[in-house]
This record gives sequence, structure tokens and C-alpha cells, in this order.
Amino acid sequence: SDPERDRLIQAYEWSAKFYHYLLKNTEHGTAAMEYLRSRNFSDKMIDQFQIGYAPDRWDTLLQFLEKRNFDLAEMERGGLLSARGEGKGYIDRFRGRVIFPISNRTGKVIAFAGRVLGEGQPKYLNSPESKLFNKSRILYNLHQSKASIRKTRQIVLFEGYGDVISAWDAGVHNGVATMGTSLTENHMAIMKSMADEIVLSYDGDRAGQAAAMKAIPLLEGNGLRVKIALLPSGMDPDEFVSRYGGDRFREQVIESAVSTVKFKLIYLKKNHILLEEDGKIAYAKEAIEIIAMLHSSTEREVYLREIASELDLSYDSLKQDCNLLRASMQ
Ligand code: CTP
Ligand code: MN
Ligand code: MN
Ligand code: MN
Ligand code: MN
Repeated sequence: SDPERDRLIQAYEWSAKFYHYLLKNTEHGTAAMEYLRSRNFSDKMIDQFQIGYAPDRWDTLLQFLEKRNFDLAEMERGGLLSARGEGKGYIDRFRGRVIFPISNRTGKVIAFAGRVLGEGQPKYLNSPESKLFNKSRILYNLHQSKASIRKTRQIVLFEGYGDVISAWDAGVHNGVATMGTSLTENHMAIMKSMADEIVLSYDGDRAGQAAAMKAIPLLEGNGLRVKIALLPSGMDPDEFVSRYGGDRFREQVIESAVSTVKFKLIYLKKNHILLEEDGKIAYAKEAIEIIAMLHSSTEREVYLREIASELDLSYDSLKQDCNLLRASMQ
């Protein structure tokens, strides 16, 4: 075992408790509490995810760690403190931020994400990569979701903290997040070892949809089944739950997740103007390219008929193009 690692884990555990206490039980936390309320975070969610607050001062955590005889240089390497600009000494790394503890698979806190209250840059300040924390190997909330994942053999994959937390409150207990980073081989190996199916629930903005398009072949390439949860454009899962409630989120978003082919066709459609002949033909051509990849002729027929009625074209001509393409693929 590595003593520095053990001390850091201890420091993170105590710091998480400290920040959670400051949020809930002191005046330092009042503004943060109001911010969380305005986002519909309940007490239950704040407790379950051990959300905290780091006051907007230089030495709150510094003093806490000093009193407990932690080695401050070690704490700086671990990302709880920052080196003071000039001369010697240390300051708190997280100041004036809501703290989301990030745990490893066994439930040990190994990093923090700190969110500004409202607007401000950077929106999230994370612990740096350290002995404990490697973003490309960590899925947020895996420690709490693994029981449900094993049972359902399914993972709901989100972009961010708020999405996982709101979804949990809505009864989706198999949710994890990549924390903004793109999906790594490591993430996929972890998911593959626990589940057969991924429900991709990325943000309904351009970035989220493009990230989903990229993730589909990677996940499928790893032998995972993939479905896509659709959101109104521009909305993320957390916003959907806040606006429409948990029941609608579960039923209309997660349980109604569509096939990857369906999602690709929707994605494709957004990039073409179907009122113009050129746009219509280009869309039909690219849609056929997606549909032609399907092995099942029943599935091909279902999607071709949808496109035909959508574009006011005959099923026969689409089918003919599709079969020509398939013949040329062999
Ligand atoms: N992220 C980050 N640093 C940033 C922006 C984003 O680490 N400056 C990560 C966070 O894990 C965040 C995720 O990427 O949760 C998704 O980003 P985004 O959709 O922009 O943020 P939200 O999670 O929607 O944040 P919020 O609801 O708090 O605005
Ligand atoms: Mn608590
Ligand atoms: Mn996003
Ligand atoms: Mn988002
Ligand atoms: Mn959000």
C-alpha cells in the first residue's frame, strides 16, 4: 500500500464531510443552499450525493487540514490546496464553489468538482489528476449505481453531475457520467464488465448530440447494445427533470429511448432542408446508407417506410436504391 495515497483518501473523506457540514449547517452555506434550491436540489439529493460548499475565503480548508496535521505539500499534490503565488505557503483550491465529491468504485472520495454559484468561469473547477484521480478511468456515481447496474445489466450514461443526481431522484439508479470528457477505452471496459446495454442520455444541444454520434460506434464496437434517450433541443436531462418532473423523465425520455438507427436518422434530418429537392434527395441518400447497414430485412422495411412517408416518396424506389447499395457493398 501507498501511505501518501491513504492519507489523501483520509483528507478527501474528511474534507467532503466538512464542506457538506458547512453547506447545511452554517451561514457560509446560505447562498449556496439558495442556489441549489433554485435548481430543485432537495435535501435528500444533497445528502445522498454529499454535496458541500467551499466558502469564498483563502484558508477555510487550509486551517481544517493544518489542525489535523496533514502534510500541506501532499494536500497540494492531491488537489485540495493550491501553492500560493508568491513565496511559500498554500491556499484553498476551492473557493466560493458548490462541491460535488467524486468517488471511486468502492465509494472512497478521490476528487472534487467545484461549481460556481450561477455564472462564472470556469463553470466547474475539478481536482487535478493525482495519485487518486484519473478522469479517464472514473465514472461519476458508479459506487452508488453499481448494484442497480448489475441487476439490470444496463447503464444510463450522462454528461454531468446534475444529470446523474436529478435522474437518481427520478428513480433512475443506474446512471453514471463521464464528466464532460469523451468516452475512453477505460470507461468502456468498465461498462462492458458490468452491463450489456447503454442508454446514452447526453445533452440535447449540438455538442451533446455530436458526442452521442461519436459514442455509438465506439460502444457498439465494444459489443454493447446502445439506445439513445431523446430530449427537446437544447435541454439537458437535469433541466428536463426540473421542468417536467421525474415521472415524465423516466417514462418519456429513459424508457422511450430509441434505436441508434432512429437517432441517426433524426440527427441526419436536422442537417437537411427537406423542403428543397436537393435537401430531400441528399437526406434520402444518406438515410439509405444507414438503413442499408441493417442485417434484418424487417428492420430495413420499417425504416424505409418511415422515410418514404416522411419524404412523400414511394417505398419501392427507396427499397430499390437500398438493395442496389447493399449489392455493391458485398
Ligand atoms: N465540465 C467540466 N468543466 C467545465 C464544463 C463542464 O468539468 N468547465 C464537465 C462537468 O462534469 C459537467 C459536464 O462536463 O457536469 C457537462 O457539461 P455541461 O453540460 O456544460 O454542464 P452541466 O453538467 O449541464 O452543468 P450545470 O447544469 O451545472 O450548468
Ligand atoms: Mn448528510
Ligand atoms: Mn453539455
Ligand atoms: Mn449539461
Ligand atoms: Mn445542466
